[in-house]
Amino acid sequence: MAERIPIASDHAGFEMKEKLKAVLAAKGFEVQDLGTNSAASADYPDYAHALAREIEKGGAKRGVLLCGTGLGMAYAANRHAHVRAAVAWTPEIAELARRHNDANVLSLPARFVSETDAEAILAAFLSTPFDGGRHEARIRKIELGDEQ
Ligand code: RB5
Repeated sequence: MAERIPIASDHAGFEMKEKLKAVLAAKGFEVQDLGTNSAASADYPDYAHALAREIEKGGAKRGVLLCGTGLGMAYAANRHAHVRAAVAWTPEIAELARRHNDANVLSLPARFVSETDAEAILAAFLSTPFDGGRHEARIRKIELGDEQ
């Protein structure tokens, strides 16, 4: 069965979201579009929370967010348990976010990356495994907050 990947954006990421939906579908994923559905102004936290809930509930393993900088989406998504949203503006950062941080949400800065770059960043995010090892304990410490 195809893996379902939720994707969401605000108005700043709308156009790129539409492009990446096609890329994900071509890679064989089942794309779950959580909005927004036009280039009209929209509040990014509404979409970030909707997507993060999918990860938090365990309904989806990983997801993709887009806003102007990627930052607001990541701030909102990272308030949810088990969500590790990474803002990545190069494939190398996406790769390290997977290898070291086991990022499960990619947050793309749609106003600062080209479509070609976004595709390469997405590909790195999707194809790179978590290194585990010494990084496991560090990930656990994120979940624990300062009670360690
Ligand atoms: C929208 O103008 C912009 O603030 C938003 O897309 C995002 O960059 C917020 O972090």
